Amino acid sequence: MPRLIIVSNRLPVTVSADGEGTVVHHSSGGLATGLRVPHERSGGIWIGWPGDLSEATPEEALAIEERLREMNVVPVGLTREEQHVYYEHVCNAVIWPLCHDRIDQLPLLVEGWGVYERVNRRFADLVVEHYQPGDLIWVHDYQLMRLPALLRERLPDARIGFFLHIPFPNPEIFFALPTRRWLVEGMMGADLVGFHTRRYRGHFTAALRRLFGIEPSADASVLWSHRRVALGVFPMSVDAANIAERASAPEVAAERAELRAGVDRLLVGIDRLDYSKGIPRRLLAFERLLIEHPEWRERVRFTQIAVPSRGGVRAYRRFRRDVDALVGRINGEHATPTWIPVHYIYNTVPESTLLALYRAADVMLVTPVRDGMNLVAKEFVASRVDEDGVLVLSEFAGAADELSEALIVNPYDIDGVVVALDAALNMAGMERRARMKTLRAQVLTHDVHRWAASFLDALAAVRRRKSRRTSGASPDKAVQK
Ligand code: G6P
Repeated sequence: MPRLIIVSNRLPVTVSADGEGTVVHHSSGGLATGLRVPHERSGGIWIGWPGDLSEATPEEALAIEERLREMNVVPVGLTREEQHVYYEHVCNAVIWPLCHDRIDQLPLLVEGWGVYERVNRRFADLVVEHYQPGDLIWVHDYQLMRLPALLRERLPDARIGFFLHIPFPNPEIFFALPTRRWLVEGMMGADLVGFHTRRYRGHFTAALRRLFGIEPSADASVLWSHRRVALGVFPMSVDAANIAERASAPEVAAERAELRAGVDRLLVGIDRLDYSKGIPRRLLAFERLLIEHPEWRERVRFTQIAVPSRGGVRAYRRFRRDVDALVGRINGEHATPTWIPVHYIYNTVPESTLLALYRAADVMLVTPVRDGMNLVAKEFVASRVDEDGVLVLSEFAGAADELSEALIVNPYDIDGVVVALDAALNMAGMERRARMKTLRAQVLTHDVHRWAASFLDALAAVRRRKSRRTSGASPDKAVQK
């Protein structure tokens, strides 16, 4: 196995230091679990941002570097200004909303691209410093769209893959970005560009056609300045067997029983607090269920976990206030002295509680207005070792392409969501189990290990094909910002 250099904005570990000591926290997110095995087995390194360390003393900073080195992790430091302009503004106030079709969330000034480029260059410097001939380089996500081209300039023969974890939007929307050409040129520095779904790849090829007049060939690759760039579809997933095992633990069963005490039916939503996740419309659909089907009043509870996220970005702070107000209004109008319809938690919760909630749910609500993949839907399915529970899933989540036995809804159609909720709550046990069995078969056989292996296999294969052709220089000279 070739050595693997993984590059992502966030590392699989987050480090914090406050002058009184350091704490290393291992992420259990999809990327961290999926790439742990290839990272360790290949003896490679992982380059990324370990979190804000501006409070660390010099001794703590040294101790952290030492700890990270032992884990084969290379930290990229970001100044306060870079965190603000690159991470909060360009990545999460501009590219993120645009790729999730939320052009309405864009700030008036779409700027800061020089800082975005500078940070991408800093990542490039570290990759070049650690690169050894024969390595595979795998770059992740929208924070690093310029990195493949920056690497191609300096490592013309390297094998470079790029995977976009968020949607690539319809070009009509993407073209609002003044830097649209420059970002696409950045991605095209890779040998292999991966997307979750065929639709996102289709949007990307439409953008290539309109920006550069190039057409993909039958094998979904394009000729880009004498190099062939493959465009692949790799639906990401979760560590399904491991989740199933952890969800079967006795502590989870005990917590599950507590969560169910005194509740006839439990609906669950678990999301980062993000306007792409469709939480307000989900709340309105739940409220309408209570109005149109009063038989569910005092019998059903909707537990919504909202994990705090990107609080430095204005649109997220505003969104939080809107959700707070909506939950307050619904509970104020519908609660009784003995019953509160929405159980809203704005906090991170321990993993065992998440698993217990998955196990306790009669109905899991995953209704984003747009989501690249959505791994919560797959975690829910993986955890249901009892083969029960109903998944209500938005057609605008990438996961809907694979999880067709869920009740698929249009989150904008609130009446339609109410019909699906009522059907889910009334669904007979036999149908619930038949659907869940099919969903589980899909998720257990298409797990995150398969995702990582198929991307890496395709990256190696692209290169073998490419080495029979002549490889040309990067075309990215005429940068249009
Ligand atoms: C999404 C993105 C990731 C990102 C994660 C958490 O899943 O695709 O790249 O790391 O959200 O967001 P954060 O801004 O906290 O890293």
